Amino acid sequence: MTRLAIYPGSFDPPTRGHEDLARRSLALCDRLIVAIATNSSKQPLFSVEERLELLRAAVGSDPRVSFEQFDGLLADFARKMGARLVVRGLRAVSDFEYEFQMALMNRQLYPELETVFLVPSVDITYLSSSLVREVARHGGDVSGLVHPSVAEALRRRFARPPAPTGA
Ligand code: PNS
Repeated sequence: MTRLAIYPGSFDPPTRGHEDLARRSLALCDRLIVAIATNSSKQPLFSVEERLELLRAAVGSDPRVSFEQFDGLLADFARKMGARLVVRGLRAVSDFEYEFQMALMNRQLYPELETVFLVPSVDITYLSSSLVREVARHGGDVSGLVHPSVAEALRRRFARPPAPTGA
């Protein structure tokens, strides 16, 4: 039987942390779906199509990994795809409460669905998409924190128009 896992998230943008988690997830399953939730209440920096493209570039082409988007509940998407495993990253104690609630709610909605938490590589435990956005917005160097395609997309998104020259 094929063990199918889902790694869901906003991925706005994908970071080295997401890449690390996707790679680690492959030790637990035969096939992995990296899935972007499209109905987040957050106003995203990148469109779903842009995030899918960035994820493909960052995670790379492994025949075991596919990239999807989903609207609505993760539990419904997992059931539809026939997945019984959800992978999430736990970086710090501060992540725990939200992740714990989400895992239990998903179990309530789809009892066969198990959530597993993976710990990212220690040098990137502080990393989050929101921090990357913040640093990039202010022109900081994020090249060590994201794939080069993501760094380029951020640079373009936050590029300042040239100052008007005096008449
Ligand atoms: O990267 P994020 O923003 O921490 O990911 C959160 C995400 C997208 C996994 C979560 O918000 C989610 O599963 N959204 C889909 C809607 C849903 O099922 N919500 C209830 C979960 S209890």
